[in-house]
Amino acid sequence: MRLLIIGALGGQIGAASQIAVARGSQVSQAENIDAAMKSLRAGNGADVIMIDSGLDIAGLVSMLESERIDVPVVACGVGDDKGVAVRAIKSGAQEYIPLPPDAELISAVLEAVSQENYSIIHKDPAMTKVLALAKQVAKSTASVLVVGDSGTGKELMARFIHNKSPRAKAPFVAVNCADIPENLLESELFGYEKGAFTGAVARRIGKFEEADSGTILLDEISEMDLRLQAKLLRAIQEHEIDRIGGKRPVKVDVRILATSNRNMEQEVAEGRFREDLYFRLNVITIQIPNLADRPDDIEPLAKYFIEKYAASNGLDGMRISKEALIQLKSHPWPGNVRELENTIHRGVLLAVGSEIKPASIHLEGSGSSHGTAVAPNGETAGGIHLVGKTVAEVEKELIIDTLDHCLGNRTHAANILGISIRTLRNKLKQYSAQGVTVPAPGEGGTKAPV
Ligand SMILES: Nc1ncnc2c1ncn2[C@@H]1O[C@H](COP(=O)(O)OP(=O)(O)OP(=O)(O)O)[C@@H](O)[C@H]1O
Ligand SMILES: [Mg+2]
Repeated sequence: MRLLIIGALGGQIGAASQIAVARGSQVSQAENIDAAMKSLRAGNGADVIMIDSGLDIAGLVSMLESERIDVPVVACGVGDDKGVAVRAIKSGAQEYIPLPPDAELISAVLEAVSQENYSIIHKDPAMTKVLALAKQVAKSTASVLVVGDSGTGKELMARFIHNKSPRAKAPFVAVNCADIPENLLESELFGYEKGAFTGAVARRIGKFEEADSGTILLDEISEMDLRLQAKLLRAIQEHEIDRIGGKRPVKVDVRILATSNRNMEQEVAEGRFREDLYFRLNVITIQIPNLADRPDDIEPLAKYFIEKYAASNGLDGMRISKEALIQLKSHPWPGNVRELENTIHRGVLLAVGSEIKPASIHLEGSGSSHGTAVAPNGETAGGIHLVGKTVAEVEKELIIDTLDHCLGNRTHAANILGISIRTLRNKLKQYSAQGVTVPAPGEGGTKAPV
């Protein structure tokens, strides 16, 4: 993991950084926020930022957001002062670590915020076969296209392939092509020179250069527009990229992984995806089966998620009852592993005592559903209060509430709503034009005014 520390290294933060180094992190340091931003713009990526709680955390977080640099921020401060911790979190830090540093706490926090735990839980022969193929192709530098329905674990698989590859120690850089507006994706991927366009105040290194000698994941690649597809093809064929406003191409050595939950052949047939690019990416395809087609994975996954969520809620010795397990095994899981994970998370929180019983398991479409989709005002969509509203009004509320619930994450919201990201984008554009406040990525958790 790449950890960027902002603040003077003397004293306690220095001790924290030594702990991080001892557990295998690559640590770099910047004296202040300006120096840190310069380093990030120059393509020195980080998986986590640790910042002295005395510095301007809110300023840092807003700069990261406006420059679309997606790195979790953890604040560190001396002592257990609740006020300092609360202020840090309110300013946008994800966690607060009290100093002097506790080795176990630092490890736990770094692992949690960087989502470093990438084990793929499996038992079903269908999944064992897929993993064997993944391990085999990991060793090569061939491009791999990971396909599967929403929530099957495509992103996790891409990280697994990188971690098992000879490039494991080099950077893994993920770009979600669906979450980034079309007009920004090019600069995100290829970077730009100072002055390339209004607002390009300094050179910004793109994700391709950041991933140099490592792996780039182009998540949801089917959402990339045709014009950019042509530039991507050139980057793959020539092993070089053009920064926007750049005078000459820049050589890059990057392995490409891509994911899609659309049928790519159909996208090609319908002219939305370049065939030549598809062939380039699709040297090897890994198809992840739906959870319903690997039923033996349900139990080990359920147990894994129980442990995960019990631990993060400070609950010990949680288990699941036989009846509840039978219920899980007979559910069709249209939302795949993500749906199972959400179901278990709720189950852990709702359980009375240390056993999760059927009463705490709420499944989509089972009548007792408190599904992941948040209906207007938190009530079920069948509620009487909907009468009198137009379908368009209800749709708008549902979309905005779901987006808010997903902290502005377009991909997740579209998955929960069961619509394409393009459709979601178009609706949001329409709402913005009507003056509705639309949660930006990373925003939400509070009800936005509709
Ligand atoms: N085999 C597995 N073992 C452990 N966790 C898993 C497994 N498969 C998926 N998950 C978890 O389920 C969630 C969804 O996985 P992931 O984001 O990789 O799916 P995806 O196919 O990319 O979904 P989407 O199409 O919605 O982007 C993640 O939290 C991931 O860690
Ligand atoms: Mg994904």
